[in-house]
Amino acid sequence: MSRGEQLKQEENMVLTPQAAQAISAEKVASLPATPAQFRCLICGKIYVSHEDLKFHYANEHPDAVVPIVVKLNVNGKDCEVLIEPHWTLQRTLQFRLGLTGAKQMCDHGACGSCTVIMDGRPVLSCITLAAECEGKRIETVEGIAANPKWKPLIDAYCRWDAMQCGYCTPGFLVTAKALLDRNPHPTEEECREALSGNICICGTYPRHSQAVLEATLKMAQGGE
Ligand code: FES
Ligand code: FES
Repeated sequence: MSRGEQLKQEENMVLTPQAAQAISAEKVASLPATPAQFRCLICGKIYVSHEDLKFHYANEHPDAVVPIVVKLNVNGKDCEVLIEPHWTLQRTLQFRLGLTGAKQMCDHGACGSCTVIMDGRPVLSCITLAAECEGKRIETVEGIAANPKWKPLIDAYCRWDAMQCGYCTPGFLVTAKALLDRNPHPTEEECREALSGNICICGTYPRHSQAVLEATLKMAQGGE
């Protein structure tokens, strides 16, 4: 491949805000409403209902823990997921619903990369059991990116280049959205305070507050 072709390929790999919005909208639209199948985690047999699976466990694996079904509302869509009772919300979002935005980084509630919004409040999905979220309203970064209302926030993050490796960025965006929901006109100090639980080892901190402040101005003007 020539250098020119290589550069062209790299150019096509850049994720623009528009592309991110389209990808997120597609992910949200394609969230599975119910489990496609009820699979025994021990012998692999597949059943058509949770009742059949529970019956199977009672007869074939009476000492094993039976997978459970949890109902969630994720990004506005009602979903049922079949999981093991110890699964975290982060794991459930990633491995049952294909939502990879909430990242498992520290995995013990210290970095904020896995932040999602539950019933209006930011929570750390790596230390939240999915079984405790029955009936809860969950918002992930995909739902935020897919909603045109939040385009100024996504755009501001891109303009301020508030990321290097980008691994922590979804958590920052979700926390910022939760902040703007409860306080549409935060001061820089309030931005810093709200985002203080999100860790970025690349040291992009000043840019996050600037991006959020710019987004509030754009949103107040009703513009994009
Ligand atoms: S991965 Fe959840 S807080 Fe770090
Ligand atoms: S951009 Fe790398 S950890 Fe935040």
